[in-house]
Amino acid sequence: MLPRESLRALHVYFPDPWPKRKHRKNRLVNARFTELARRVLTPGGVVYLRTDDEDYFAQMTAAFAANTDFCLAEMPAELSRIMTDFEKDFLAKGVNTRRAAYQRR
Ligand SMILES: C[S@@+](CC[C@H](N)C(=O)[O-])C[C@H]1O[C@@H](n2cnc3c(N)ncnc32)[C@H](O)[C@@H]1O
Repeated sequence: MLPRESLRALHVYFPDPWPKRKHRKNRLVNARFTELARRVLTPGGVVYLRTDDEDYFAQMTAAFAANTDFCLAEMPAELSRIMTDFEKDFLAKGVNTRRAAYQRR
């Protein structure tokens, strides 16, 4: 629904990991999502991803690594310091979280 090349950043933090194998098709971040992200981001725009689910992190990073319109990017320290509510809970419980950022070429 977003206009083409209308965003400088997409932040996708702790989307539902759908941990059961039969439910993984419901995950938001997949190959199709990388295409949608490419369409709505301006050139140089960045997708920021966070999850506590190792398997989902592997899926997210594989999907963006496979899309040649994106390259791996840094998460700025200023942004990295900002924690979502879920992230604060995970950290309080000692649950490890993973992050990655991909920039549209
Ligand atoms: C985790 S929230 C994300 C909220 C917000 N983006 C944040 O970071 O605070 C998304 C939904 O995913 C479901 N969920 C269940 N277990 C989860 C998990 N381990 N990680 C992320 N989402 C989970 C819950 O239904 C939850 O309401």
